[in-house]
Amino acid sequence: MRITPSILNANFAQLGAEIARVPSADAIHIDVMDNHFVPNLTIGLPVVESLRTTTDQMLDIHLMIADPDRWAPAYAETGAESVTFHMEAAKAPVRLARELRAKGARVGAALNPATPPMALKMILGEIDMVTIMSVEPGFGGQAFMDLVLPKVAAIRRMISAQNLDIWVQMDGGISLETIERCVEAGADTFVAGAAVFRAEDPDHMVRDLRTLAEKTTPGLGAHGCGCGGHR
Ligand code: DX5
Ligand code: ZN
Repeated sequence: MRITPSILNANFAQLGAEIARVPSADAIHIDVMDNHFVPNLTIGLPVVESLRTTTDQMLDIHLMIADPDRWAPAYAETGAESVTFHMEAAKAPVRLARELRAKGARVGAALNPATPPMALKMILGEIDMVTIMSVEPGFGGQAFMDLVLPKVAAIRRMISAQNLDIWVQMDGGISLETIERCVEAGADTFVAGAAVFRAEDPDHMVRDLRTLAEKTTPGLGAHGCGCGGHR
């Protein structure tokens, strides 16, 4: 189980120091927003390039931008280990995924809450992670949307059926109150923004979230044996 805290709710005046507060994180989730794909504007390429120089932790770039075909390769070139684009925004997702892999990055494909799992079916062999939004993208601190849980299970079954090794990341409203049902649905990677950076001790919260996730029985097909999951 992986915990990838989002810095969206961290102190933007000292992002380097904020990243240093979560040494137990498996990756740092960086939400790039362009105020076109989502109604919010956060950080872009120059900030990611600077953050790259401040930490050797894995960087998990979440591009909530209108033109990932144009910009996603540049984020891979920063040395970020993982770059995620939205299926709703990419004009040529297979070509983009292959371009990102060619630049040495892991590839994530993200789905907004209302986008069905079938949107991923043809691209699963080209990606390393699926990011399932459990809130409408654009802001941290929103309430978790349980309606996406059946989608998580369906995507986990699609992955198991093709015997692929793809991380299933959930993003939005993840906390000690919601992470267990996400594991049960089949997720194994968890973004947490407010739950971590609003906590008294963010790193302690990262460890608590991982402990709770690892104590929870994974969902259908989540053990990756390719059987499509035991009942
Ligand atoms: C929302 C972002 C999420 C958000 C998660 O558009 O993609 O990564 O920062 O924050 P919480 O955990 O507070 O919902
Ligand atoms: Zn995100």
